[in-house]
Amino acid sequence: MRGRSAALAGLAAAIWVGCTPATPEVKEPGESDLLDLERMIHQKRYAPYEPAEMFDNGAVMRHPPGGTVPNDRVTGDPGLTRGVTGGAYVDRIPIPVTLELVQYGQDRYEIFCGACHGVAGDGESEVARHMTQRRPPSLVDARIQAFPPGRVYQVIVEGYGLMRSYEPNIPLRERWAIVAYVKALGRSRAAALDALPPPLRERALKELP
Ligand code: HEC
Repeated sequence: MRGRSAALAGLAAAIWVGCTPATPEVKEPGESDLLDLERMIHQKRYAPYEPAEMFDNGAVMRHPPGGTVPNDRVTGDPGLTRGVTGGAYVDRIPIPVTLELVQYGQDRYEIFCGACHGVAGDGESEVARHMTQRRPPSLVDARIQAFPPGRVYQVIVEGYGLMRSYEPNIPLRERWAIVAYVKALGRSRAAALDALPPPLRERALKELP
């Protein structure tokens, strides 16, 4: 008798295991999603570049429909997007330069450039003091102030020597805003007092040493 019930119990267990789906349909609270993901990872699938009979050209990878533009392709006027047009640097900032733009440029400059080139643009910074190979130059010196705006813009987009490209981090309008502010920093160094409008002249006389 005992032998028979033990065998039945074993059979019941086997039936129960056999009928239980490998992956529970309903998850207990707190149970992880790992089981479900695992099923996706181990399913039958194609790897890139593999042949595939289901498509006419026998390849698994598809051609994008004609006229598709990649979302990271730089389009538009190269003077605006690259700072260079017809083989020459643009010599004017190609968006309207307003006080608001320059102030925006200051904000962006202090975030992205000041750590190396100095908040005042003079190349004095903690990073510069510790760079042994080549220091970030002063951006208010005559050499760089003589750059056409397109050249400063290009340095931001493409990087220069040891300096990396900031293209992925700084969008187009912000780049031009920074260029405007770099020019403003240069002017602030060399401005003659009597060229300032009277209210600014008074403030400069009061605040500058
Ligand atoms: C991590 C430090 C660092 C940051 C941040 C940085 N630069 Fe530079 N920059 C350098 C260094 C170093 C050089 C010199 C590179 C060389 O000579 O190889 C340089 C060079 C330059 C030059 C001169 C290029 C030339 O033709 O001589 C300009 C202009 C410039 N940077 C502008 C900027 C602007 C604008 C920003 C902010 C968007 C910026 N840099 C952010 C380190 C930096």
